[in-house]
Amino acid sequence: MNTMLSFSAPAQLETECLVLPVLDHGEKDKPDARVASNDPALQDAAAELISSGEVTGKIFETVLLHRPQGIRAKRLLLIGGGKAKTFSAYELRRLAGAAVRFLKPKSIRSFAFVLPELRVAHPSAERSDGGGWDRADAVKSVVEGAFVGNFDPDKYRSNRKDQLIDEFTILGGPPFGEAKGGESEAALRAAIEQGRVIGESQNFTRELVNEPSNRMTPTMMADSARRMVESLQVPDLKIETYGADKIRELKMGAFWSVAQGSDEPPALIVIRYEPPDAPAAPVIGLVGKGVTFDTGGISIKPADGMEKMKYDMAGGATMLGAIRAIALLRPKVRVIAVVCATENMPSGKAQKPGDVQIAMSGKSIEIVNTDAEGRLVLADGLYYARQLGATHLIDAATLTGACVVALGYINAGVFTNDDAMWERFRGAVQRAGEKMWRLPVDAEYLEFIRSTIADIKNTGGRWGGAITAAMFLKEFVEDTPWMHLDIAGTAWEEESKAWIAKGPSGIAVRSLVEFVRDFADGARSH
Ligand code: BES
Ligand code: MN
Ligand code: ZN
Repeated sequence: MNTMLSFSAPAQLETECLVLPVLDHGEKDKPDARVASNDPALQDAAAELISSGEVTGKIFETVLLHRPQGIRAKRLLLIGGGKAKTFSAYELRRLAGAAVRFLKPKSIRSFAFVLPELRVAHPSAERSDGGGWDRADAVKSVVEGAFVGNFDPDKYRSNRKDQLIDEFTILGGPPFGEAKGGESEAALRAAIEQGRVIGESQNFTRELVNEPSNRMTPTMMADSARRMVESLQVPDLKIETYGADKIRELKMGAFWSVAQGSDEPPALIVIRYEPPDAPAAPVIGLVGKGVTFDTGGISIKPADGMEKMKYDMAGGATMLGAIRAIALLRPKVRVIAVVCATENMPSGKAQKPGDVQIAMSGKSIEIVNTDAEGRLVLADGLYYARQLGATHLIDAATLTGACVVALGYINAGVFTNDDAMWERFRGAVQRAGEKMWRLPVDAEYLEFIRSTIADIKNTGGRWGGAITAAMFLKEFVEDTPWMHLDIAGTAWEEESKAWIAKGPSGIAVRSLVEFVRDFADGARSH
């Protein structure tokens, strides 16, 4: 999707469709809808719809007008952004996605989006720029949202219409006119580029997650990662992929115990982003669970809904998408991604409940349930990332159904042994417009994964299942600052939304990218 920036007067622009946000400035019961622009021509074009009460500014409300009066666009799409008071980049990002998704099936291939001319609060509490509307942030959010909205999961439908938006223009409006040719125009163009890189990387993750397990085996996942790295042509980005031999040679007994049951060979994917001008430390390790299909193994899952377990590699795909964006945005910080890809299958070679495995770290693990496989592959992935020099670890995994019970489909779970890392990440999550919630990892939970035969066991029983899974991982990071993202409930959209299709969400890619960029930004280092 081609993305352009224009400073021309919106009313003068010839376009298939002009998209204009409408915000509600009213108090509780009295809506007071106003278009988010000071341009009298735009206000006039929407005046009747607003005075008639047809347009209220309610979030995602859409009204499409043909041949609007007094403006040159063929159509005018009024799109509700909700309450003006609380309107932020979070809503703006979703509005752009909703506009794309509304226009796409209507044979409209290009449109122009009017950037709201409001001074509204930035969602990040960290920012103290007077609560001002950071234009570059707004532009970046619009571009991210539009790219996310342009993705559809119907890849294998033979009647797929391939209805995509080809290009769109962001209209800066009058206040941006002064910026033309100046520094702020350059900032806006850079913001468009960043938004594109991040949106495309999130969609890269979604493409991988969308593939069924017969088309995304561990080997194919490694091949996709390699093709991605090679196509970027970033000299500071290098990839190595390994198979079963290397996994055994490294004594990754936990990872291998899952892989041994499958006829599909596992893959260990290692991608390093090492810009020469970056300091030697920190080195951020991004570790992903890449279970390309989770049957549960011998502790087999029920048939109902098992087809969804193709998305059990979402954590790995998240890390691939994140490092893709990082390599293109080039922050001055070292990053290593480690993805442990395997199937979890029942077979004559599969591990069995009661088996004892020795992880790469040397810890012995009693396997109580072969369906708790994610923590096994991550245990070795985390340990290996540390060995490769990671000073800070983040893992992402569709790890537990218990996390879905706790937080539903709205928030991803975050677990960490480092408060400072969480504070930093929290800001990143806010800037990215994602939702995550911290859950505890107190030492008292450790008792639930004590084993009588080995150092630990791989399940902690029914209660607090997301936490005991995190406790298991914590055993392998020791005192390295670490954060675990449980994306079991958020990696797959159960229903389509105004701004995003049903299917893979690409959750956490944006937050991770913001986090790493912030790390590189010396001003806020700790
Ligand atoms: N991949 C699943 C977790 C999952 C559940 C992801 C639902 C997405 C949606 C994981 O490997 C698993 O099976 N976890 C078990 C752990 C249990 C056996 C301790 C679970 O959550 O039931
Ligand atoms: Mn499982
Ligand atoms: Zn799993």
